[in-house]
Amino acid sequence: MCFEIRKAVLSDLNPALQLDREAFGVDAWSILDYAGVFSFGGVKKFTALVNGSFAGFAAAEYDPERKAVCLMTLAVRAEFRNMGIGTALLKSCEKAFKQRKYYLMVDCENHSAIRLYRKNGYVQTGVLQAYYLNGHDALEMEKETDRN
Ligand SMILES: CC(C)(COP(=O)(O)OP(=O)(O)OC[C@H]1O[C@@H](n2cnc3c(N)ncnc32)[C@H](O)[C@@H]1OP(=O)(O)O)[C@@H](O)C(=O)NCCC(=O)NCCS
Repeated sequence: MCFEIRKAVLSDLNPALQLDREAFGVDAWSILDYAGVFSFGGVKKFTALVNGSFAGFAAAEYDPERKAVCLMTLAVRAEFRNMGIGTALLKSCEKAFKQRKYYLMVDCENHSAIRLYRKNGYVQTGVLQAYYLNGHDALEMEKETDRN
């Protein structure tokens, strides 16, 4: 199955919100969070399509305090996982910025996501105890590239 990645547009808001709810349950973002993601120009966001249908979404923004890009969210619809879409969305977010450092938070029990991030050069830099509403800790992961 082929997929394509393109910049997200406003009509992706609802499917992205729906996917977030399916993927993150009690820790899903609200519609207001998504309204912010889609209205703030600093947020770079990408949609994956399979045969023209919404298949995944990712967003990232520059964090001036940390002088690093924060990967805010990444999710792929269950039926389209394990075909490279998550990796492609992650790479699209990274390429959208000319920064050296990238970071993200991930549920410590989310082994598929942790594997994906490790494969793409992220290393664990910290643990935030009971960070998620589901009670799980968050792993903080970071990647430093040699871009100038
Ligand atoms: C984490 C998540 C985004 C990964 O998305 P994905 O599209 O499945 O990611 P990829 O396909 O790039 O990689 C997943 C696996 O598929 C494998 N894969 C990639 N392309 C493949 C292909 N063409 N054929 C077979 N396997 C393939 C990868 O090697 C990887 O294998 P591994 O888990 O054994 O290391 C997805 O599982 C998801 O949406 N989870 C719920 C939301 C979530 O947890 N988001 C992260 C929040 S921090």
